[in-house]
Amino acid sequence: MSIVEDIIRLKEEKNAVILAHYYVDEEVQDIADYIGDSFYLSKVATKTDADRIIFCGVEFMGESAKILNPDKCVFMPDATADCPMAHMATGEEIEKVKAQYEDVAVVCYINSTAELKTMADVCVTSSNAVKIVRKLPNENIFFIPDRNLGSYVAEQVPEKNIILNAGCCPRHVAITADKVKEAKAAHPNALFAAHPECTKDVLVQADYIGSTSGIIDYVVNTNHDEFIIGTVDGVFAEIKKQAPGKKLYTVKDQQVCVNMKKVTLEKVLDVLAHDTNEVFVEKNLAEKSMKSLQKMLELGQ
Ligand code: 13P
Ligand code: SF4
Repeated sequence: MSIVEDIIRLKEEKNAVILAHYYVDEEVQDIADYIGDSFYLSKVATKTDADRIIFCGVEFMGESAKILNPDKCVFMPDATADCPMAHMATGEEIEKVKAQYEDVAVVCYINSTAELKTMADVCVTSSNAVKIVRKLPNENIFFIPDRNLGSYVAEQVPEKNIILNAGCCPRHVAITADKVKEAKAAHPNALFAAHPECTKDVLVQADYIGSTSGIIDYVVNTNHDEFIIGTVDGVFAEIKKQAPGKKLYTVKDQQVCVNMKKVTLEKVLDVLAHDTNEVFVEKNLAEKSMKSLQKMLELGQ
């Protein structure tokens, strides 16, 4: 039996569902029941009837799925797959900003630890951040942890005072403005689509800015042949499936998320077979962080 057949058999035997983010390897995306961006996967996690969720992604994704589904068993194929940006804000900074602005709302990108989520008024993802911030009654917003998504939101919602935090995604800031210029010179007919985790000087060069699923939809549905992609190249797999004729280029070599790459078919099979790497979130932490995640599901619709 092949590894894929073993995964399918065990998945049925154990009433498990496999969720995969667009950044994991194509062969892992291929065995998933649901593939998507962070917002889509959080919604799927709350609707599944399965007893077990195998989350092919990084820690904050599995953790959020567990927080939203305390009665389900959530497993991560690789327990060390973590998003470094998730740790790039502190309680002290939040307290400092709260002391400065009476009406401040703490808006927390879902790429964050459960602990940071407990201190937030609402969570957001790249696909709903603008919409949710616009809906908040507060004029002052402390956006954590990503300064680049925060700065993009600030431009889209100029009526709010967005206070930025210092965090960033090491993978997206490595896509520099100069590299984008070089890629455009090499492919003069290509349109450029970028994720809002890229820096401002990259985003000003973009024809489209959006989440991973936004970028995929843009490329698939735009009547054009060539695209330079300003995000992790895992999104290529879905675009190739939906629009095999499109020519896709990265901005630079090695446009990968090393943590997402840790997820392999062997590890998916292993957690299914042995129930290892189960995600546990301490009860108090889970209850407090659930509020900001649920608020996101409510306001992000
Ligand atoms: P999306 O929500 O756009 O899928 O992004 C997740 C992420 O980690 C981007 O680096
Ligand atoms: Fe985190 Fe960046 Fe990887 Fe997204 S691409 S999971 S923000 S390290």
